[in-house]
Amino acid sequence: MLPVFVLTACVLVVASLPLWLPKGVVALRMRVFAHLNGHEGIPVPGDLVGAAQFKEVYSHPAVNGRSRGAGLSDLFWYWLSPGAELHQEHLEAGDRYEEIARTTRRILGVPRARAEALAERCSARALSGIQGARLVRLRDLMMPAWAEFYYEVVFGERCPPLARDLIVDNADDVVTALKCCGLRHMDRRDRLTRFLTDRLEAGGLPHELPSGLSTRERALYLQGTFFNTAIVQTSEAVAHLLMVLAQHPEAQTRAVGDDRFLDQVIEETFRLYPLFGIAHRITTGEIAVSNGVTLPAGSVLCFNYPAFHRVGFDDPDHFDPSRWETLSAREANHIPFGVATNRSCPAWRLAPITMRVAARETMRRFALYSSASHTRSMPSRGPCLLVPREGPHGARRALLAYIWLRDRWEDVARSVVQLVLGTYMVRDARRLRLCQRHFEAQEADPEAAENLPTATDGP
Ligand code: HEM
Repeated sequence: MLPVFVLTACVLVVASLPLWLPKGVVALRMRVFAHLNGHEGIPVPGDLVGAAQFKEVYSHPAVNGRSRGAGLSDLFWYWLSPGAELHQEHLEAGDRYEEIARTTRRILGVPRARAEALAERCSARALSGIQGARLVRLRDLMMPAWAEFYYEVVFGERCPPLARDLIVDNADDVVTALKCCGLRHMDRRDRLTRFLTDRLEAGGLPHELPSGLSTRERALYLQGTFFNTAIVQTSEAVAHLLMVLAQHPEAQTRAVGDDRFLDQVIEETFRLYPLFGIAHRITTGEIAVSNGVTLPAGSVLCFNYPAFHRVGFDDPDHFDPSRWETLSAREANHIPFGVATNRSCPAWRLAPITMRVAARETMRRFALYSSASHTRSMPSRGPCLLVPREGPHGARRALLAYIWLRDRWEDVARSVVQLVLGTYMVRDARRLRLCQRHFEAQEADPEAAENLPTATDGP
């Protein structure tokens, strides 16, 4: 009797793992991270600063420290290595930042018609290899397209397959580590740095690059901003958009021929799945907030995008693109590209143009279906079934049941991997202290500050 009871209990526990284990492990991971990182951040919105003061505080001129003085920065520099100290997103305000930001804006100033034609060509090539119905991971499917797109934007020439593969290897490695689904592989990243350095040495670039940087530093700037951030962000954004369309067939049907509606779907996708979970800033002066709170200099503010995007919307968890028929993105609590007055995204104009084209190209060829779970961090990379629009849709139900089952069990294994690898990387980043060491060296020798070696690995 007992063995049957024990056996049944074991079967029930194992069968129910997908229902409780991933959630439990994610909660544990957050606690381990908070313990290892310390509780240095002030969440916004939170107890001190509410959603009503979110934009006021984010826009404050003293909310302008980017990396120096936050333990959290060591973790970001670890994930973004090599060259985090040259990454626009992590540079402190100053002449170097201004010049790099100007260069990025210039490179991204692609005329709309050219951007659309290029995005169409690159998406079409990425999709052309798919014959018949196919199970894909949307992020993987789209990454080569954006590698080719941004290579051509930066270098003004077609992207050779070798460059595309190096860029994809680099970007995939960064985003996989960021989501704690894998460790860093510096060899993959260094291969791209060497390729870019050689390419810059060969000359013939359509854009002037920041002065005062060595060729290797220029390569690292391009690697960080274009062949890491641009590729990762656009691939993730398009994967979210296609995933939403795959899970809302009525929206998909309407969006196929209605660009205005597709724009509403994009806006609603950004609202529900903003690419930034948290953006942090270190305050460089005291801030008197309009709610009576004073934030001292040196505070680490953690601006929580998903939390802000939920405030002030009816039924905020519900996917409802039609809310954007009357709502203005400017007036709503909606900042997918950050706040204009505090280092917002330089691709705020270009990225949606290219996303629209990629979605149109995909939907023109395929009907999309997915039964996988869809979360903001999407560590699953967006499992989806693509079925040619003209072809038979026969085995769809069986394939969707397979995606559902596989996704739930992958979630179980992945949550444990993320806990183990995430804990290792947080500890490793604390050991290496890439950001702290950079600023200590800069303070010790301000003369040599501009020529500090690139922070990659341990002392
Ligand atoms: C849909 C795609 C994208 C979204 C939703 C997005 C979102 C954002 C957000 C929210 C910020 C501001 C974060 C903060 O306040 O700290 C940001 C900054 C930035 N983004 Fe994007 N991004 C996207 C694509 C891109 C692309 C294609 C590039 C290409 C170069 C890019 C480059 C940057 C850079 C360099 C910054 C830092 C700006 C600065 O500090 O001056 N992003 N992005």
